[in-house]
Amino acid sequence: MRLLPTALLDLVARLQRPLARHAASAKWRRYYGKQFVSAVDPDDDLMHYTMDFAAREHSSLRYYHGVRMYLEGGKWNCAEVEKVLGDVGFRLADARSMLEFACGYGRLTRHFVFMLPPARITSSDIDPGAVAFVCDRFGVDGFVSTTAPTELRHDRRYQLIVVVSLFSHLPLDSWGAWLAQLHALLEDGGLLLFSTLGTYAYDVNIPSEARDRFASPVDGFHYDTDNETRGRLSGEHYGITYVDEAFVRRTVADAFDGELVTFVPRALNEFQDAYVLRRH
Ligand SMILES: C[S@@+](CC[C@H](N)C(=O)[O-])C[C@H]1O[C@@H](n2cnc3c(N)ncnc32)[C@H](O)[C@@H]1O
Repeated sequence: MRLLPTALLDLVARLQRPLARHAASAKWRRYYGKQFVSAVDPDDDLMHYTMDFAAREHSSLRYYHGVRMYLEGGKWNCAEVEKVLGDVGFRLADARSMLEFACGYGRLTRHFVFMLPPARITSSDIDPGAVAFVCDRFGVDGFVSTTAPTELRHDRRYQLIVVVSLFSHLPLDSWGAWLAQLHALLEDGGLLLFSTLGTYAYDVNIPSEARDRFASPVDGFHYDTDNETRGRLSGEHYGITYVDEAFVRRTVADAFDGELVTFVPRALNEFQDAYVLRRH
């Protein structure tokens, strides 16, 4: 027997997620003002990933807690990026132009637009839906990336490029090639900040009995084809990658005409390492 009429149940089902998002983003509307955008795309892999994570910690209100953690995590990462840059003498707010590469559906973009004007931000991803979403919702400029770094055609150059959680997914053959391509998108003297999963993350995430599934073609590099994209991206191009500092230093020396300005272990979420490079 149904206690509520079907139409009312439908209405509740339709409103459930928007209401949960509204509640989960109240903190950010108080922090930034009512312009804060709480929209989350249903195709956003990171939202699915965060929701699975939230479900382990909260037995109810899985979507609400997922959105809350997603918004919170985005802000942390933006603040951590700002701090790493600040520590090498660069104020994020002063960036004349910033490329947020591998932006996804704007987990960070929605916070970045309050840290510097959206007109100075360009966002890019391999997923055209993600690029359309961030341009539409956050008022940034955008372009769709390519699987092969050498196929990317883009004329603009940027003073700052930020890449969170892409190199932590790249196979060996595209690591150096993407560093070289991002180098080409930097202005002379421009900065590239990228994050990696390093030795700490490998030790914590991968127990020794699970290490067999990782290919380690060179020292300090471990790759598995598994990924969080639910079939969207092939494990041949995008998996899960753990690297040590020595591997990154060697690859930077080979592929990037510039200097490694800083390496900050566990700079993001106390988990991902961050590197900042400066183009000569
Ligand atoms: C783990 S997500 C990180 C998203 C965002 N940076 C964040 O931290 O929320 C990695 C993103 O890299 C994108 N990606 C994968 N291959 C790419 C490529 N060749 N060029 C640009 N983006 C790519 C994926 O579509 C995905 O959105």
